[in-house]
Amino acid sequence: MIHDLLRPLGIGRLRLKNNLALAPMAGITGAAFRILAAEGGAGLVVTEMVSAESIKYGNKKSFKMLELLPGEHPAAIQIFGADPASMALAAQAAERAGADIVDVNAGCPMKKVMRSGAGAALMKTPALLADIVANIVKSVAVPVTVKFRVGLTAGENLGPLLARVCEEAGAAAITLHGRPASQFHTGAVNLEAMAVSAAAVKIPVFGNGGVENAAGARAILETGCAGAAVGRAAVFNPAVFSEIASGLSGGTPSAPDQAARMRLFLRFLELNAGIYGEEHGLARARKLVGYWLKGLPGAAGARASFMRLKTLNEAKELLIQYTEEP
Ligand SMILES: Cc1cc2nc3c(=O)[nH]c(=O)nc-3n(C[C@H](O)[C@H](O)[C@H](O)COP(=O)(O)O)c2cc1C
Repeated sequence: MIHDLLRPLGIGRLRLKNNLALAPMAGITGAAFRILAAEGGAGLVVTEMVSAESIKYGNKKSFKMLELLPGEHPAAIQIFGADPASMALAAQAAERAGADIVDVNAGCPMKKVMRSGAGAALMKTPALLADIVANIVKSVAVPVTVKFRVGLTAGENLGPLLARVCEEAGAAAITLHGRPASQFHTGAVNLEAMAVSAAAVKIPVFGNGGVENAAGARAILETGCAGAAVGRAAVFNPAVFSEIASGLSGGTPSAPDQAARMRLFLRFLELNAGIYGEEHGLARARKLVGYWLKGLPGAAGARASFMRLKTLNEAKELLIQYTEEP
């Protein structure tokens, strides 16, 4: 039955209200954005990836990335690194910060990350990945999860092997991005690889890649994946989770209209200002303004003006034109 595809999900001893997760995105899934996604129906939100080595050396910016706010739980903190001891230390810091889950990044394709043996490079070293996961599992009480990709290059399917390795090391769930590392975030998603990976383990597997709506989530859930993780579609619309949930339950979901989207964006700016201060909060929102204004009349001009804003009031004045029904 279609609505069975949407369901509560257990990850270790944690119970999620549904099986739709926000995928971690560096530069995007900060606390303000995670709150919008949680309010927008996500059953689980995930932080940006945080460097375990930076945590080990007390980097202030990285510690700031561990901060969770009351409105966003359940939340996973994602850490990356290649040294089991540093990763365990970072996991403990994440747990102290209130993480409901510690997630290990084993899928980041960026050269800088892979060169250090972390991210997707861990897919080449399953024994090290197992060590990292087992060491973290020993060091924290919260469930530990792992996110990796179907392979390093096109056509490769390391999913079942790595899923088993992680399960044996004590992982409580997996997120499988259905594109190889060589493809970064574009191109076809390998649903077949997801199906065999999900079948290879007992722990829940979140399928990830290219989900934009209920039909996309359904395609992933029908492979046998227990959940679906949504990345970029949420950037444009953090309420996409409710829409997907509604679609999976047989409803006819509608995307928020322009005015609703702008109200969400203003809320995002307010949350950001609360976390980082007005000026810094607005500066951090610059990366996202293009997504939010996309398709609106006069968007290019508004976007250019946004880059110069210093106060929330200025932002409200600029965006008010979009918050009323046309
Ligand atoms: C800007 C950006 C930043 C990302 N940062 C991370 C990250 O920090 N950790 C991670 O595991 N994946 C990261 N990803 C990958 C996403 O979690 C996700 O796997 C990918 O975007 C595919 O899902 P989508 O097609 O729904 O966007 C990032 C993706 C994007 C576009």
